[in-house]
Amino acid sequence: MKSILLFLIGLLLISCNPPKTETPMNTKIVIAHRGASGYLPEHTIEAKAMAYAMNPDFIEQDLVLSKDDVPIVIHDIYLDDVTDVATKFPDKKREDNRFYVIDFTFNELQTLKVSERFNPETGKQVYANRFPKGKGNFKLHSFKEEIALIQGLNKSTGKNIGIYPEIKDPAFHQKEGKDLTAIVLKTLSDYGYTTKADNCILQCFDAKELERIRKELKADLFLVQLIEFPEEAKQLEYFATYADGVGPWYKQILDKKVAGKWQFTSFVSEAHKLGLKVHPYTFRADALDEFTSFDEMMKTLLIDANIDGAFTDFPDKVSAFLKK
Ligand code: G3P
Ligand code: CA
Repeated sequence: MKSILLFLIGLLLISCNPPKTETPMNTKIVIAHRGASGYLPEHTIEAKAMAYAMNPDFIEQDLVLSKDDVPIVIHDIYLDDVTDVATKFPDKKREDNRFYVIDFTFNELQTLKVSERFNPETGKQVYANRFPKGKGNFKLHSFKEEIALIQGLNKSTGKNIGIYPEIKDPAFHQKEGKDLTAIVLKTLSDYGYTTKADNCILQCFDAKELERIRKELKADLFLVQLIEFPEEAKQLEYFATYADGVGPWYKQILDKKVAGKWQFTSFVSEAHKLGLKVHPYTFRADALDEFTSFDEMMKTLLIDANIDGAFTDFPDKVSAFLKK
């Protein structure tokens, strides 16, 4: 009788407090790289809203500080590849002819028009078939504004899409007298992201900084060590002392094609042995390089190479593939 009563109370508790959608760290995850950047200019709030509607598991934010210490969602420490800064503030370029986010206040940054990415020297759009360069009325925005959008949509849709912020060039920020990491961790904590269960993955290319985040700053977040160079693959054991996953360039996983079938390096199996998830970048349907189709790329890496997730400019296509 007592056990039946306990069972009924348990059922009642579950129905009153349904479990939150589980953080999808244990399935293959789709990360909207700079938003739905294959369709709209990268890191614009519009690209983030479009990505959200495509149901990725996470939406990515690259973060750089403004002069007045506001974390801005932008890929580079420079402004001139994605904005009209050169025409609006011609006098603010540095000796290297570049315009730095850190030299502008948040208010000044908001006066800039954001465009599809282009080469500032030639003016040529990087991905020819994407959103037309210079069209539209897009603006820069802060990390807080983007979190508010994603958390607001999570409330209004009942979904639980995560954030995947990247600390950009911490050494540059330190040289400029700023601690980007401390500001980002405070923002994350203010918005409820403090543990691995909070649907946030924090990433960085700088290994010393990510190690500091875990060991000195005692962050309990899910941490991903980004990897740029092939020789860094030898450091997986060290990365596993503080990180939960690694984010290599996808080419570090490919070895060669033999009789029409891809062979792989030992990267994924070694990372998995160390308990590290593997989230390679970047899956682009319009930059296939060694693959003949996007389907081949997705099958090769997500299924055959057994990676755990993908950064993609086309979250709709990767989600559809995984569903299939
Ligand atoms: O952060 C992972 C992925 O975004 C790779 O780097 O250069 O696009 O920030 P990047
Ligand atoms: Ca990134």
